[in-house]
Amino acid sequence: MDPSIQKRVQELHDKLNQYNYEYHVLDQPSVPDSEYDQLLNELKEIEQQYPELITEDSPTQRVGGAVLEQFSKVEHRTPMLSLGNAFNEADLRDFDRKVRQAVGDNIAYSCELKIDGLAVSLRYENGVFMQGATRGDGSVGEDITANLKTIRSIPLRLKNPLSIEVRGEAFMPKSSFVKLNEEKEKREEAAFANPRNAAAGSLRQLDPRIAASRNLDIFLYGIGDPGETGINSQSEGMQLLNENGLKTNPERKTCGTIEEVIDYVNSWVEKRAELQYDIDGIVIKVDSLSQQEELGFTAKSPRWAIAYKFPAEEVITILHDIELSIGRTGVLTPTAILEPVRVAGTTVQRASLHNEDLIREKDIRLGDHVIVKKAGDIIPEVVSVITDRRTGDEKEFTMPTHCPACDSELERLEGEVALRCLNPKCPAQIQEGLTHFVSRNAMNIDGLGEKVIAQLFKENLIEDVADLYRLTKEQLIQLERMGEKSVENLLTAIEASKKNSMEKLLFGLGIRHVGAKAAKTISEHFRSIDKLREATVDDLLQIDEIGNKMADAIVTYFENEEVQELIEELRENGVNLTYTGPKKERMESVESAFTGKTIVLTGKLAQLTRDEAKEKIELLGGKVTGSVSKKTDLLVAGEDAGSKLTKAQDLNITIWDEQQLIDEITKQEV
Ligand code: IVH
Repeated sequence: MDPSIQKRVQELHDKLNQYNYEYHVLDQPSVPDSEYDQLLNELKEIEQQYPELITEDSPTQRVGGAVLEQFSKVEHRTPMLSLGNAFNEADLRDFDRKVRQAVGDNIAYSCELKIDGLAVSLRYENGVFMQGATRGDGSVGEDITANLKTIRSIPLRLKNPLSIEVRGEAFMPKSSFVKLNEEKEKREEAAFANPRNAAAGSLRQLDPRIAASRNLDIFLYGIGDPGETGINSQSEGMQLLNENGLKTNPERKTCGTIEEVIDYVNSWVEKRAELQYDIDGIVIKVDSLSQQEELGFTAKSPRWAIAYKFPAEEVITILHDIELSIGRTGVLTPTAILEPVRVAGTTVQRASLHNEDLIREKDIRLGDHVIVKKAGDIIPEVVSVITDRRTGDEKEFTMPTHCPACDSELERLEGEVALRCLNPKCPAQIQEGLTHFVSRNAMNIDGLGEKVIAQLFKENLIEDVADLYRLTKEQLIQLERMGEKSVENLLTAIEASKKNSMEKLLFGLGIRHVGAKAAKTISEHFRSIDKLREATVDDLLQIDEIGNKMADAIVTYFENEEVQELIEELRENGVNLTYTGPKKERMESVESAFTGKTIVLTGKLAQLTRDEAKEKIELLGGKVTGSVSKKTDLLVAGEDAGSKLTKAQDLNITIWDEQQLIDEITKQEV
């Protein structure tokens, strides 16, 4: 081969990489797009003729590769941790105080925008991009190299031949997100709720061409193992990334005091709306690496950094109407019907107003302009009315005097804010009761959602919970959207539920004041519905956690003749009425790390549900409580553990991760 061809290929690589960098990293193109395209075509042609010249990092190799069957796993050489949270100034000052206590007063903080996307790691060997992965569970992620290569701001080759793992946040700019959803709408496909979901969804595609069409971008914010690089601080690290053509966020600021940090944080509360991408907070990192090392890590996150989360975003919209729904205990709940509005990443059109008093207190009228936010960034809430915007056409809302479902008179029980429908035959209540009966913590019948229940009810196939056990294949197959397979699955789930231990049934019956926890305690004590039926208020009060209200409610419930009939029907249909869970005695007989200890669970558990973890700990003689105090012996911290973890650290309480919990449980299991 003529050596000039190789030379030309090298020239084309260099030029294309430079133009790509100027366009996608610096946002300062020096040549028109047509010139880039021309050079790229020239390179493609040469490569077609001399395929041996195609290299891994050739600018033609951004969208290549086959459609994958599945992603392979990548073990992170250094774990990808998450951060503790701060929600206000006090939390930030608290963080600062602890940092100073540990490393002294000579402190500088690197403040960075917290990009709302997907954490990824990029591995370069001798300057060539080799592998990109998702965070996964922090230790093992998924290999999404082919998709990451389609992100034009990720260089396929660094400016220096470094072997380095860098970390950052891949995201979808707001403009790409809007465009993508418009296209989806045209194709009548479901839109993405927010840019973060869209970015994550795009990077999880097995066909890299899809990611390539999504215009994703990235900001790098860290180095996997900074010790290998000779840098001394986070700021130097960012500089190193920049020098190598990696894109970092330009809004970073080094602050000498917590006051400065707070000013920086506050300056972004308003300004963030102007950014071309979503951020959900500010990350504050101790700048010096040696101080970082001194501060070290807790179970899940570094002590040298914290994520400040912005207060919930508030938006203005119009409240068109108030809808009423009836819960399973007959309580009437008003819900605001809003002009759909985007807030904190999703479109909101309904918000619970809880009760009539709240409507009065906030003086909410139909047609009002209202301020809406998502509490905890999840649950929509009407914050207040903008009375200045009233035109006089707004209408006051009055609660009905009669139940909208069965027309019986509504009552307000003494000492309660809620209006109730007291008719036990009210169809709305019965449906809600049925939905509760099949729910996960109750009888756990999969495939019986609210919609199916509503259909069954409408078709007169069920009136009470015992009827569920009389349903036949012939009846179910007639329902909308019910195929052979789903009918079969549903009948199997119903059949399986007959074997449930008593506490699930007891909770499912929906007796007032009896929650899942109380149902379990009562079932362990009485061991059968028949024994419980005979219990007096005094018998019930013998149990530690049962108070007067609950004891009364239980006795009154079982005195009801219709309830007695219902229990008999359940029995006739083969539903188990006894407690089949583990015997209490076992707890005392086993010595475990939990015996006699008070344990708190926090954060997300990946392998067990909260309920399962609690049950196992209790079985092994431990007591699980909800809040951390001096009396707590052990905190089990799952993913994204928050303030409880911080508090436990402060109190020097032993902290386990989920795996340690599982190891102890498995050790004890016979
Ligand atoms: S540093 C060990 N810096 O926020 C510290 N994280 O829980 C690693 N994030 O999922 C994180 N912008 O992906 C850091 N400038 C930034 C960030 C950032 C966004 C994400 C990160 C992680 C979460 C922190």
